Amino acid sequence: MSDIAILEVNGIKYEFPVIVGAENEVSIDIKTLRSVTGGVTTLDPGFKNTSSCESAITFLDGEKGILRYRGYSIEELADKSDFLEVIYLLIFGELPTKEEKSKFHKDIQSKSLVDEDVKKILDGFPKTAHPMGVLSALTSALTAFNPKSVDVKSEQDMYNAICKILGKFPVLVAWAYRKEEGLPLAYGDNSLGYVENFIKMMFELPNEKFVMNPVVLDALDKLLILHADHEQNCSTSTVRVVGSSHAGLFASISAGISALWGPLHGGANQAVIEMLEDIKADGGDYQKYIEKAKDKNDPFRLMGFGHRVYKNFDPRANIIKVAAEEVLNDLGIDDPVLDIARGLAQVALSDEYFKSRNLYPNVDFYSGIIYRALGIPVPMFTAMFALGRLPGWIAQWKEMRSRNEPISRPRQIYIGETLRPFVEESKR
Ligand code: SDX
Repeated sequence: MSDIAILEVNGIKYEFPVIVGAENEVSIDIKTLRSVTGGVTTLDPGFKNTSSCESAITFLDGEKGILRYRGYSIEELADKSDFLEVIYLLIFGELPTKEEKSKFHKDIQSKSLVDEDVKKILDGFPKTAHPMGVLSALTSALTAFNPKSVDVKSEQDMYNAICKILGKFPVLVAWAYRKEEGLPLAYGDNSLGYVENFIKMMFELPNEKFVMNPVVLDALDKLLILHADHEQNCSTSTVRVVGSSHAGLFASISAGISALWGPLHGGANQAVIEMLEDIKADGGDYQKYIEKAKDKNDPFRLMGFGHRVYKNFDPRANIIKVAAEEVLNDLGIDDPVLDIARGLAQVALSDEYFKSRNLYPNVDFYSGIIYRALGIPVPMFTAMFALGRLPGWIAQWKEMRSRNEPISRPRQIYIGETLRPFVEESKR
């Protein structure tokens, strides 16, 4: 492998170093491109061919369907670890010892109360407000109640801010759900595990003793692990870009929540169920929707299908598909939408249009079926994705800030009007 790349512009050749990553990924380092060429840039809408940073957190190989957090395969982590361990792994780089995990959990719990005045902000939202809009607003509002967490100048400041958001965000997610359901807001129980406490905060009723369902706990813990990080996806890149201006962690996470909300990104898990419900209401004729997805004149896309990076199967989708079947069996639920999902996937995967474009089910295709079986309403699906992705956003923000990376400021190619004189109103 040559360690230089040669670029010829206007008959002049320029050399740029070639970087090879830990998994033999190759990238051309063009940090000096504009200065050595007198202003030449590269154009790459959507950054499909651009590495924005060097990162040691998550590796994924779209061709081979590989996903690893800090070197551990997603399959092993989903099978043998738990979400709190994975949070620690992503943020600090190693699986925690029993003592490290216990201290981390206690530090998170010690910062998990949310200022009662935040409820006044929540009160201002209509019950019909989308949870992602509520969460983005309340997460940004946390800055006002935790001013010291804005500009983290030391490792300790960073650690405190991380424990605060890990403690408070599950509360905000549960509150967003309970606001929508008209239920009193709860704080759960610090004698419980991290995910257990979240489930209790979500589902406990004031007039009943709460009983934890182990099937729900196991399924949700696995889903959260599978959503925890995914290298430089749209929302994570947003968190890094906002954080690069030295905006605080809470404000950066709030921006990431807004980016995740989009139906082409995390909002797809809600769009998938809505699409499957439409197909069910339309008599289950998924071939009709396959044809709509293939029709260039029809804006309809098969939600939950395709991926910017995975041009083979999404390993998370494979795990979630099996988990969905297990959860429905364990809970004794017969959800016809799962049958439609299976049939839709089967037909799409054998259709030339999808095969030739390497379009496979992604993480969002089956996850909604589990969320629904767990009693989570559709508008909360993307909020659950955000809860899962929180540790990844934190880990990537911490890595960017710890490396003191420059503020993100891309260039552009201007294609507008060239210089022209002002036109008086009477002459327009
Ligand atoms: C997530 O990046 C991440 O890591 C994201 C994520 C994470 O963990 O953070 O994995 C989570 O966001 C998963 C993706 C969820 N989104 C959806 O399920 C929405 C439906 N899928 C798409 O809209 C699309 O596949 C994207 C946005 C996911 C990827 O789009 P790309 O990479 O920009 O691909 P493209 O739009 O250029 O499509 C290439 C071709 C086009 O056809 P041609 O112009 O070549 O003829 O494939 C077609 C597209 O029209 N195509 C689809 C399709 N997805 C792509 N056609 C029909 N249905 C689809 N879903």
